[in-house]
Amino acid sequence: MSDRYGDFVQSSIGKKVAKNLGLPMPVELDRFDSGQPAVRGSVLVGRANGDNTAISESVARILSELHADVFVNSSDNVKDALSDAGVKAKANTGGDDKFKVLLFDASNISNADELKQVYEFFHAVARRVEKSGRVIVIGRPPEDLTDIEAALAQRALEGFVKSVGKEFKRGITAQLIYVAEGAEQNLDSTLRFFTSARSAYVSGQVVRVSNGANVDVDWAQPLGGKTMLVTGASRGIGEAIARVLAREGAHVICLDVPQQQADLQKVASEISGSVLTVDITSEDAGKEIAEAAQKRGGLDSVIHNAGITRDKTLANMDEQKWDMVININLGSIAKLNRYLLDNDVLKENARIVCVSSISGIAGNLGQSNYATSKAGVIGLVNATAKQLEDNAKGMTINAVAPGFIETQMTEAIPFAIREAGRRMNSMSQGGLPVDVAETIAWFASPASGGLNGNIVRVCGQSLLGA
Ligand SMILES: NC(=O)c1ccc[n+]([C@@H]2O[C@H](COP(=O)([O-])OP(=O)(O)OC[C@H]3O[C@@H](n4cnc5c(N)ncnc54)[C@H](O)[C@@H]3O)[C@@H](O)[C@H]2O)c1
Repeated sequence: MSDRYGDFVQSSIGKKVAKNLGLPMPVELDRFDSGQPAVRGSVLVGRANGDNTAISESVARILSELHADVFVNSSDNVKDALSDAGVKAKANTGGDDKFKVLLFDASNISNADELKQVYEFFHAVARRVEKSGRVIVIGRPPEDLTDIEAALAQRALEGFVKSVGKEFKRGITAQLIYVAEGAEQNLDSTLRFFTSARSAYVSGQVVRVSNGANVDVDWAQPLGGKTMLVTGASRGIGEAIARVLAREGAHVICLDVPQQQADLQKVASEISGSVLTVDITSEDAGKEIAEAAQKRGGLDSVIHNAGITRDKTLANMDEQKWDMVININLGSIAKLNRYLLDNDVLKENARIVCVSSISGIAGNLGQSNYATSKAGVIGLVNATAKQLEDNAKGMTINAVAPGFIETQMTEAIPFAIREAGRRMNSMSQGGLPVDVAETIAWFASPASGGLNGNIVRVCGQSLLGA
């Protein structure tokens, strides 16, 4: 769908008009491009003073593997970790160098006073971040800390990151990654995702990396040899998910309702995937998925994307609209997961990824049915994550919560509400289906064993429910 205002402000006259009137100024976001390096510019790395070096050692190793162009402040202790990892860091001279990524290991910060180091690192370079830049702060999960001073300092990072996300504009994102003690080796997929253009429309998020299987992957094709099923794959976000998973090497079983067979077939044949036409609410949906999966030796991932809206205020909502939305968006996912887990259709280290919505977090006028279903998806992910932790098969479950994404679903929204939804976020624009798909591919990666129970919004840091 076209964003005429967004196109207008890209022109020189549009830029002038928007600036003079104080209107939102969306920039064209960097997005994945196979011809471009994973990190498209210089990375300034820093670390708070203290004894724990485990996180910055992992960061240094990952930057070395990415062949990133790394800079460091002259007095920063992170220098040793970088040189141990073979990274030849340049000195940040405080001149005109611009940075694509600002990355700060704040895990050593253990009281309110020490938060000053976050200020010092970022304040000095706040005006030197490139368009579509990345601000990343890494800390320890506050809930794991028994020392109150340390816990409050680590929790404080969340307010910092979310404010930076709102201030920096120009497509710059900001994230906080909490890495549990001992889970430093599980940081790779998350750091790669957030330093790259794949995370274009994800901002202001807090991600928790815990201990998980540490699987080696070929980063050029991280999903190579995997079989993944995507529901609702004939169009919109589901189609984008299928395409991105296939691009990353997976064989994708594309599922949709029989009425969508022609579109589904087109998507599947373009990505050399297979087709499964079934209504996910039907009695034998689990069995049909199992049969399709067994032909390929089981499933490495299931992406529960299919969903519908039937909007009405509660007073005007008939029973059928309530039942249908709850059944498709929530009830069927719970039933399918149970079937796939009970019948060993999901392989070891399988990845379950659900699609929630910011409506499920913030609630929305006219969407009591939809918001209930999407909040339920978050409940399902939280509860299942605990269960998977105990079953020792290395499986994980996570969810994305998209905000305003340009699809047929959002095209149906009345103009004024649509325009408000599009602009009320730190990117001043709607996201694209591919932005949701890239986030799902990160969760679905075999290298994401340390991600379990995360809900990540793909909403450009929307003001709704934040
Ligand atoms: N578009 C947005 O802005 C947005 C925002 C937040 C969340 N979401 C969620 O993202 C997901 C995809 O949304 P979209 O915008 O691409 O929607 P869409 O309507 O374009 O696509 C949904 C797909 O799901 C399929 N589907 C519906 N019921 C099904 C059933 N019973 N069995 C099998 N397939 C079924 C449809 O045929 C369709 O192909 C949904 O879960 C939606 O709630 C979308």
